[in-house]
Amino acid sequence: MQLTSHIGDLHEVEADWLILPIWEDGAPGKAAAELDVKLGGVIARLREAGDIKGKAKELTPLLDPKGIAAGRVMVVGLGKRAGIDRNILHDAAAAAARAITSKARDRLGFALPEDVSNLNWGDVALACGVGLMQGCDGPGLRKSEKDRFPPKEIVLIAPASAPAEEIKQATERAGIEAAAVSLARELVNTPPCDLFPETFAARADKVAQETGLQCTILDLRQLETERMGALLAVARGSARAPRLVVLRHSKGTGKTLGLVGKGVTFDSGGLSLKTNDQMVDMKCDMAGAAAVLGAMQAIARMALPVNVIGVMALVENMPGGKAMKLGDVLHARNGKTIEVLNTDAEGRLILADALAYAIDHKADHLVDLATLTGACIVALGMEVAGLMSNNDEWKGRVETAARTAGERLWPLPMFPLYGEMIKSDVADIKNTGGSRWAGAISAAKFLEEFVAGKPWVHLDIAGPAWAEKENAVRASGGTGAFVRTLVQLARQYA
Ligand code: BES
Ligand code: MN
Ligand code: ZN
Repeated sequence: MQLTSHIGDLHEVEADWLILPIWEDGAPGKAAAELDVKLGGVIARLREAGDIKGKAKELTPLLDPKGIAAGRVMVVGLGKRAGIDRNILHDAAAAAARAITSKARDRLGFALPEDVSNLNWGDVALACGVGLMQGCDGPGLRKSEKDRFPPKEIVLIAPASAPAEEIKQATERAGIEAAAVSLARELVNTPPCDLFPETFAARADKVAQETGLQCTILDLRQLETERMGALLAVARGSARAPRLVVLRHSKGTGKTLGLVGKGVTFDSGGLSLKTNDQMVDMKCDMAGAAAVLGAMQAIARMALPVNVIGVMALVENMPGGKAMKLGDVLHARNGKTIEVLNTDAEGRLILADALAYAIDHKADHLVDLATLTGACIVALGMEVAGLMSNNDEWKGRVETAARTAGERLWPLPMFPLYGEMIKSDVADIKNTGGSRWAGAISAAKFLEEFVAGKPWVHLDIAGPAWAEKENAVRASGGTGAFVRTLVQLARQYA
């Protein structure tokens, strides 16, 4: 699948489908109005009759249009002009692509909407390009009969008045970002019999070879040498050995951005075993690491002038004869001791050592991403990530990146009083807050012990990383959440 751009008139675009976004309010854009004239005014008539309203994600297929080069037209609503953002454009484009790609077609055209307040042409092309490509992607990789058919080419079309070079560059960026989101989704969707620490690391190595990232993979022995006692304890119950993957992109002159991902390739809970219902989707527990890998791939392919280190902590959390036990006291890399009171609070244990490793390897600003707590889903729901930080300035920069990228997160407080929850009688800290209250925050307070006071943001993506059911704009399964935010953050960091 290729994403390209083209400057020209809509009625001349040769495509199996021409996607035409329309507004709910105000007059249509010039190019859209001209296309409708060629179509004999059918869109205006359907509007008049109330069949087309232009509400966000509203889809109206015109299957046998006359007077234009394209074989079919899909009219998609954008909603009201005020408040339009990258997310709304992304979702409208994705909804149209999802509706179309249930059948095999070669070429899709997309008419970039004009006069989008607050957004320049580049932003519009980026949002729509990524949305279109995401809408072509589904979780059914292993079905004997495919149910989704990515086209050979998607072309973004803008009128002659638009800045061709800006659109071309944004289209290129969109292709790279969409591929990065798809990589994260694919990794999350891969069954845990195929994706475990060793195979995840091999995939990361392949990405590094293809993009020129520097890749270091620590195996069991090296993790022991590196004193990663907390990560190793989690890994001990599994027949699959752990890995720590470190990717480096060194093209900057200033500080280093550290991205750290939770990569539990399957979370059974360990001896604190989950129920079937709780365990059923736990192949998703490596979504943080997948987001880091996707983002690193994009950062390298864009050749951004920044220094970034990506650290992925990869383990399988299983019960077994050697599994860590309740009451065990672990020695983390940074010297702190941890009392284990619940083996299902494993994510913070592996992140503890991964964060310390990133700091030892000169990360100046940190972001970790983790499907860390069910409590975060209770607090914010399935679609919004929790943001916790030790530094208001850095937190603001991550919030800006997320807003620009069109992804949703919301801050949770980090008052010192929450730190009381993880004090242990026998060790420096314990790995659960001991009650159900403020579970997302007590987990973040735990992580804070391992960042050595460096500016750090923790994103709990337990909700948005995984979609239980499909809807109009996205497939079920892995979502690739926060890849776009990380790419945006790296661009801002430059
Ligand atoms: N991976 C889970 C969190 C999770 C839950 C992710 C639901 C996605 C959907 C994590 O390792 C976990 O089990 N957390 C426990 C922590 C508790 C034992 C303190 C939880 O949230 O119940
Ligand atoms: Mn767990
Ligand atoms: Zn987990």
